[in-house]
Amino acid sequence: MDRDGGETGPSVHPMGVAFLFAEVRSPGAERPMSTAPRPPRQAMAGSCSPGFEAVSREHRVTVRSLAARKRRAERFSMLTAYDYPFARVFDAAGIDVLLVGDSLGNVVQGLETTLPVTLDEIVYHTRMVVRAAQRALVVADMPFGTYHVSREDAVRNAVRLVKDGGAHAVKLEGGARRAEVIAAIVAAEVPVMGHVGLTPQSIHSMGGYRVQGRTDAGRAQVLADAQAVQEAGAFAVVLEGMPADLGSEITKSLAIPTVGIGAGANCDGQVLVMHDMLGLSDATTPSFVKQYASLGLLAGQAARAFADEVADGKFPGPEHSYR
Ligand code: KIV
Repeated sequence: MDRDGGETGPSVHPMGVAFLFAEVRSPGAERPMSTAPRPPRQAMAGSCSPGFEAVSREHRVTVRSLAARKRRAERFSMLTAYDYPFARVFDAAGIDVLLVGDSLGNVVQGLETTLPVTLDEIVYHTRMVVRAAQRALVVADMPFGTYHVSREDAVRNAVRLVKDGGAHAVKLEGGARRAEVIAAIVAAEVPVMGHVGLTPQSIHSMGGYRVQGRTDAGRAQVLADAQAVQEAGAFAVVLEGMPADLGSEITKSLAIPTVGIGAGANCDGQVLVMHDMLGLSDATTPSFVKQYASLGLLAGQAARAFADEVADGKFPGPEHSYR
């Protein structure tokens, strides 16, 4: 599937579906059985070093500190995370915002769209990410259908993501059409991150995943949507799938921070789906994605080496056996 099309062209949203996770252990010393109690989180951080010095800037990233970053023209980073081990690594690496995105439908569950993802699933994954996040702001995505029925329903669902999931903020898709819902959630003390431009939950009404804002009318609409989200009280807004100069114009025109994904270099922050940037996706990644590692390849090689050693009777060796 081509994911770099125009407003009238084919799809662009990241749709990777492979999820591979390799647990790496140092050989030698006797290890506890998997049922042994786990060390506290602080000790865990040192016991499986991420391979770099943990970053410490502000003690905890907050909606206020992100606003201050924009005022100081300091950029910030956001990655999706869906579980404890990756959230822990990203948090220690200094990623400012962890998004429990409904992209989990694509990259974790292997679905074609994000539409079937449920609130319970986002709550479940948010809990794992929150447990790992010592510094990052954790934003939980509101799935399709959880803020479309009524304001009351939307507020109830947003509150659940904070109360049961432990999220620090929620994200929802849509601009002017969602302004009332955003205002109601903000009034209930839940910070909201907006999301305009290419909104994957609108796949059927958009007729595919299409870059937005390429015509004059489309451009005006995306700009108006971003402004409506700000007016409604959102603390930040994701700009997805739009020409770089529109991303830049919106960023300059708003007081709240923008977070770009396929929206050019001049947004206040940038976000990527973790499976795309780590090479864990089995789909061709769109051109706005930069792949920083090939973890899928590494995990496949490790699994193959294990399978070969088991077949050859080389694993487990004496050093991996109890006496
Ligand atoms: O669900 C998600 O991962 C997202 C990002 C692409 C911004 O909404």
